[in-house]
Order: sequence, then structure tokens, then C-alpha cells
Amino acid sequence: MFSPHLNPSMRYVVVGNPVAHSKSPQIHAAFAAQFGLSDFSYERLFAPLDGFEGTLRAFMSEGGRGCNVTVPFKEQAFALADVLTPRAEAAGAVNTLLRQDDGQLLGDNTDGAGLVADVLRHATLVDKRILLLGAGGAARGVILPLAEQKPAAIAIANRTASKAVALADEFASRVTRPLTGVGFDEVYDEFDIVINATSASLGGERIPLPSGVFASGALAYDMMYGRDETPFLAQAREAGVASRVDGLGMLVGQAAEAFALWTGKRPDIAPVLTALRAAL
Ligand code: ATR
Repeated sequence: MFSPHLNPSMRYVVVGNPVAHSKSPQIHAAFAAQFGLSDFSYERLFAPLDGFEGTLRAFMSEGGRGCNVTVPFKEQAFALADVLTPRAEAAGAVNTLLRQDDGQLLGDNTDGAGLVADVLRHATLVDKRILLLGAGGAARGVILPLAEQKPAAIAIANRTASKAVALADEFASRVTRPLTGVGFDEVYDEFDIVINATSASLGGERIPLPSGVFASGALAYDMMYGRDETPFLAQAREAGVASRVDGLGMLVGQAAEAFALWTGKRPDIAPVLTALRAAL
């Protein structure tokens, strides 16, 4: 029988649907190489839309140690986890699972930490005014990690204003900084950090924001990434924003957090990000 102590499994996967284009295997292979972990394996695992739990349990029972979870299974992974980290609990979604020595599944969410780590490579957040665009799962997952950086305030703006208001209300008691929710047409202030957590870029769409939303020296950050400039970053460039960053670093950052949870080792993000960027 499998014994994690005598024969520590280093088998990991990313589970998704679709999953074929996931860059996670490449990222984790690069992390493992940094530490000479020749036993570390990380593959893609496709799950049928109605078969996430079965796919996951089969992998774990065959000696799998942990996995990343991607669309559309993050909420199901949240529901399946036996134990949740506080940040996964707050996010309401799990992107990283670890089968603990006692057999329990630990659910974590490393997306927010990945975002914050990448943003901090480009700007400080202490006392900054943050505008978070979007009120879906991607936005929800980053509110607490952003608030922990002690910004001056966080405003959530969303196409559907009521969702932004509801999200701000839900988190208000959990953060010590002012947190408000508004519609796009109610954004009157200017902000130092503007983060796009909407899926607008996926459809090639821009976000109807007032042009004065970017403060002087602002950072525009898009959680999306691609070979071409995203619509949101094009919008920021046209508004005169010099610091514009896409979400490729967040992708590597969330992977680094997952790798640290699994192995206890914290990889260097920078060389992996450079290699990924070159291959886009
Ligand atoms: P995710 O998990 O990626 O956050 P989601 O939960 O479906 O996905 O949320 C998508 C977010 O993108 C929402 O905030 C959505 O706004 P609505 O709440 O008004 O639907 C936002 N969004 C999607 N398409 C958009 C567009 N074309 N312009 C602006 N916001 C958009």
C-alpha cells in the first residue's frame, strides 16, 4: 500500500476542461529543475464536465499527491476539500489541492497571492488607492490578499453594479481598509493601481471607464495575458499609463505558491516568467 512517508509521491497534475493549453506543466517542471527534484512529475489531466470528483479521486488513489484545479472546477474543488486554508475559504474557490498524510484533502487558493507577488514586482501597495474591475470569481479571490498589503482603499467596480456592492458588503467586515462597490459609471476618483479582473478582454472588449481613473504614475494590471496587448492594457496605454503589466506573472506566481505548499520550497519566478514570455 502507498505510504507517503516511506515513498513520498511527487505526482502532481492540473485538472481542467479544457486543459490541453495549460502552461502549468512547463512552469512546474522549471521549478522542480531549480531544486534538482528529478522525481517530481506534473501532467495535464482532463476531466469530463460531469466527472471532476471521479477523476480527482482516481488520481489521488493511484498515488497522486496534489493538483492544481482550473476552469471550470474551482468551486467543485472548494466543495470537495476536507480542510480549507483561510484564503481559500475567503475566495470561495480552490485552485490547489494537497493530499495530506492523514488522507484529508487540503484546499488552498494561491491566485491572490500570485497576483500580489507579481504586482509587488512593479509597485508598492501600502497606502495606494486600488481599483479592482470585476466582481466575479477572479475578483473575489484577490480582495483579501490585496487588503493585507494595507492600501489606502479598495474600490470594486463592475458592469453589474449590484454585484460589486454585494461583494464589497460581504468583505467589508474582514478588511481594515475602506472597501466600496460601484458601477463603472460611478467611478469618479483616480487610482494608483487599476486591476482588471473582468473577463472583458476574452471577448476583445474594452471597459467603459472615465479617462481620469488612472492617477499620475498609475499601474494598470490585467489578469489576462497573451502574445498581443490585451484590450484593457491598450486602453491604459492610450490613457497615458506607462506601467502596464499583463497576468502572465500572476500565472507563474500562483504556481510558485502551489509548488511551495507541496514541496516546502519557494521557487524563483523571474527566470520562468522570462522563458514563458519568450515562448508566447
Ligand atoms: P471569473 O471567474 O473569471 O471572474 P465570472 O465569475 O464569470 O468569471 O465573472 C466575470 C466578470 O467579468 C464579471 O465581473 C463580469 O461582469 P458582470 O458581473 O456584469 O457580468 C465581467 N465581465 C464580463 N464581460 C465583461 C465585459 N464585456 N465588460 C465588462 N465586464 C465584463
